[in-house]
Amino acid sequence: MEFSDVENDLAEVLLTESDIHEKIAELARAIEADYDGEKLLVVGVLRGAVMVMADLARELKLPGLEMDWMAVSSYGAGTQSSGVVRILKDLDSDLEGRKVLIVEDIIDSGLTLSWLRANLESRGAASVEICALLRKPDAAKVEVDVRYVGFDIPNKFVVGYGLDFAEKYRNLRGVAVLAPHVYS
Ligand code: XMP
Ligand code: MG
Repeated sequence: MEFSDVENDLAEVLLTESDIHEKIAELARAIEADYDGEKLLVVGVLRGAVMVMADLARELKLPGLEMDWMAVSSYGAGTQSSGVVRILKDLDSDLEGRKVLIVEDIIDSGLTLSWLRANLESRGAASVEICALLRKPDAAKVEVDVRYVGFDIPNKFVVGYGLDFAEKYRNLRGVAVLAPHVYS
């Protein structure tokens, strides 16, 4: 779906499809350099990270790559992180001794990812790093060490490329700021 298909719901376009694909190729080159010859397990966080995972995994030239998925929930209602994380779907993989890369769509307060990293580390992973396509530096509540970041963006609610509002707009090719009239 294109921006023009939901024009009236969007306040501002932040990233086009080609901005994103260029950045994902850049991130992939950095990840390849760090995990050359290794058996990396990438863990996608459902559902927002589906698009990033699909594009990043296909871009990575790492023959030992494996993919797994988790679903967590940190949100009650609305657009504010509660800090309370629940596992809705757990990994199928055993993490003992594994090199793990968490792939996320966005870091907002950082609460979800700092909890998730600690959780995966506690299962005996050899290393746990994070790749996030988007980060909102002005929304940070906890410091999270993110090895691979795509874009720093303003502290506004964004949709597209996997990110939703009430499950809509995930299928937008790019990322845009949602118009306030949609959620207020
Ligand atoms: P925290 O605050 O724990 O939140 O870093 C991370 C999760 O919150 C969701 N999130 C968003 N989803 N547009 C969205 O569609 C946004 O602007 C946004 N900010 C945070 C997202 O699920 C992320 O994994
Ligand atoms: Mg998410």
